[in-house]
Amino acid sequence: MRIGVLTSGGDCPGLNAVIRSVVHRGVADHGDEIIGFEDGWRGLLEGAHRPLTLDSVSGILAQGGTILGSTRVQPSHLRDGVARAKKYCEDLGLDGIIPIGGEGTLKAARLLSDGGLPIVGVPKTIDNDIACTDVTFGFDTAVSVATEALDRLKTTAESHQRVMVVELMGRHTGWIALHAGMAAGAHAIVVPERPFNIEKVTEVVRERFDRGKKFAIVVCAEGAKPEPDTMHWEAGTTDIYGHERFTGVATQLSRELEHRLGKEARPVILGHVQRGGTPTAYDRVLATRFGWHAVEAVHKGAFGHITALQGTDINLVPLADAVADLKTVPAERYAEAETVI
Ligand code: F6P
Repeated sequence: MRIGVLTSGGDCPGLNAVIRSVVHRGVADHGDEIIGFEDGWRGLLEGAHRPLTLDSVSGILAQGGTILGSTRVQPSHLRDGVARAKKYCEDLGLDGIIPIGGEGTLKAARLLSDGGLPIVGVPKTIDNDIACTDVTFGFDTAVSVATEALDRLKTTAESHQRVMVVELMGRHTGWIALHAGMAAGAHAIVVPERPFNIEKVTEVVRERFDRGKKFAIVVCAEGAKPEPDTMHWEAGTTDIYGHERFTGVATQLSRELEHRLGKEARPVILGHVQRGGTPTAYDRVLATRFGWHAVEAVHKGAFGHITALQGTDINLVPLADAVADLKTVPAERYAEAETVI
């Protein structure tokens, strides 16, 4: 068979492990030919591709980023490109296409799948917000990086008796903030799913200092917002991909806490460090399993599906179900983190 593979959207640790696994399973076990599209959907829409051999994926298992490159694509551009993508796919004699991506990529994959392209998606995102899969690869690495950063911030915060307000990635969901905050013993965690009460956050921190503690760590997901009209809040605009441009929750929250508490507060924005570098062992294994199962799905003709981790099994889930809703932090998981506080 001839199978195309591409990585699209924001990168994440483990993408190369999937690409390698697709090539190993396809070429070495099935005798397939694997074509890598460059820079995500752009490669498919503009016909930019190269053959992927066992040699070309040698040594990339532990490498962060993606050897194929990645871009975001505007939905309107993609809609206009379905017929063109189908033609490229036919001209190249592709039997299947494996796009590896997050919410936006999988929505695009659904569009192309509905347009008749033979698609099997692989979910990725450090945000862990794809429904139907227990976990996405990249998440474990991001949580590990964020936890290490939080641990380090504690010592400098304590030396200076400061509040550290640490902004982690997560535009719509607070999974990284929840897990890293829990792992590092943060004193307050705020997530997009639940507008925060500034009085409550202030009281948690005040009470801590009143007990003689010398620092506090507040973790916030980048998409977190206060309850309406409870503190001064600068709203954001939207970029060309329809994504909200954030105005800096850590900066605004630390300013407010400093004002309310009379204690020094510092915003720390961890940003893309969470997405860079080598994947953890957990992410390498999950990514490798996803790649293996995606090739099997193409061979079975199970198009219009994504690979998903359910318990310890990798199953196939319809693309339509995977993109219907985001997997948000449920109230009971957030309640466990509050207990920790
Ligand atoms: O979707 C993954 C993600 O890392 C989000 O957590 C974050 O908001 C976004 O990508 C950042 O995107 P960009 O790389 O375009 O700045």
